[in-house]
Amino acid sequence: MSKVHVFEHPLIQHKLSIMRDKNTGCKEFRALLDEISMLMVFEVTRDLPTEDVEIETPICKTKSKMLAGKPIGIIPILRAGLGMVDGILQLIPNAKVGHIGLYRDPETLEPVEYYCKLPEDAQHRELIVLDPMLATGGSASAAISFIKKRGCNNIRLVNLIAAPEGIARVQKEHPDVDIYVAAQDECLNEHGYIMPGLGDAGDRLFGTK
Ligand code: PRP
Ligand code: URA
Repeated sequence: MSKVHVFEHPLIQHKLSIMRDKNTGCKEFRALLDEISMLMVFEVTRDLPTEDVEIETPICKTKSKMLAGKPIGIIPILRAGLGMVDGILQLIPNAKVGHIGLYRDPETLEPVEYYCKLPEDAQHRELIVLDPMLATGGSASAAISFIKKRGCNNIRLVNLIAAPEGIARVQKEHPDVDIYVAAQDECLNEHGYIMPGLGDAGDRLFGTK
């Protein structure tokens, strides 16, 4: 069974509360998602391997640590996952970025794929899938399945807010994928929205409603 990591850092929780507020506008919402994503990736990558390298400071030679192992790929789920990309690239500027386009059919709540473009060498990368909202888990689970079909195995999922239903679905369908969230909320409402949640992340991010 995969692990669920919930980030209770006060800075993350403070910023998330502002994002949840219905009076927070598009510009501030976008900036906060960017900031929280940057703070989250710091912990998401805590277990990345490092290796000793020899360097020479202005004073003397020394051994120091640098990242080793697989390079990183980040894969936002369109649209709302796009809002998490820049914050992560600030800390991992060499990461390659793939995109998966999915929307949730409002009637069936099932994900519909409309785009998928991954880095050519995705199967040799440590992949971080991004989506602010994990509701039924349908979108995230489908995205992870697409990625696995392309031969990729080292996958972690990062969400801002997750419902217990979404966590359970991803854990059941992808027990190898660890999940990192800023908050685990109470439940879904009858329209499949996370309660209390923050509403429709894509619409709030891009100002489409
Ligand atoms: C939202 C959200 C997730 C999905 C979560 O996207 O960004 O991708 O719903 O719901 P699920 O866990 O029940 O699948 P949406 O389908 O609204 O598309 P958008 O990002 O283009 O607005
Ligand atoms: N998608 C969203 O954007 N918000 C939710 O609460 C559920 C799905």
